[in-house]
Amino acid sequence: MIYLATANPKKAAELGSLLSGFDVLPRPDWIAEIDETMDSFEGNSVLKAQTIAEATSATAIADDSGLEVAALGDRPGVFSARYAGEFATDEENVAKLLGELDGSVNREAKFVCVITIAFPDGTFSSFRGETTGQIAYVSTGSGGFGYDPVFIPDDGDGRTFAEMGVSEKASISHRGRAIAKLVDFLANSG
Ligand code: IMP
Repeated sequence: MIYLATANPKKAAELGSLLSGFDVLPRPDWIAEIDETMDSFEGNSVLKAQTIAEATSATAIADDSGLEVAALGDRPGVFSARYAGEFATDEENVAKLLGELDGSVNREAKFVCVITIAFPDGTFSSFRGETTGQIAYVSTGSGGFGYDPVFIPDDGDGRTFAEMGVSEKASISHRGRAIAKLVDFLANSG
């Protein structure tokens, strides 16, 4: 049995389907959401996974992800969800990003995802997935979430993540790549 740090049913279902064969459960509701207080993706994913593993005395998996934009000195980074404010919507975050990049020809960006699996004995392993791309000048597409409508992956064909289906995005996304490494680890650890 593996607990996830997320209580979000959509994220839990997506992770559960990618980890098929494992008994994956969402964060128990008696454990409060864990604040992301660290300044790196690694730090936050380790913090969340270890907190759940300790509280449940079971194996736990947590992820932390975000967008690093070169022209903005790698911001918003670990603050991606809260870029335009504590309770910012995806649309507000995207609008702020396009505003800050207004006039910039350097559109280089990178999505990062770090997934950590933590064990009840305090040990853990972390896996990093990255996807480089370009920030579009306008939003396109209605799929996905977050910055997907303005992120054009270098490994794609010019469409944004929001114009791709779930499995197509997962095949080249930072999260898909981190999960693939985790699945490999689990398969090889018996
Ligand atoms: P967290 O990993 O739940 O802390 O979320 C980080 C934030 O980064 C999200 O709220 C999004 O704004 C952004 N983000 C992370 N992964 C993606 C993605 O696959 N597409 C679009 N935005 C993402």
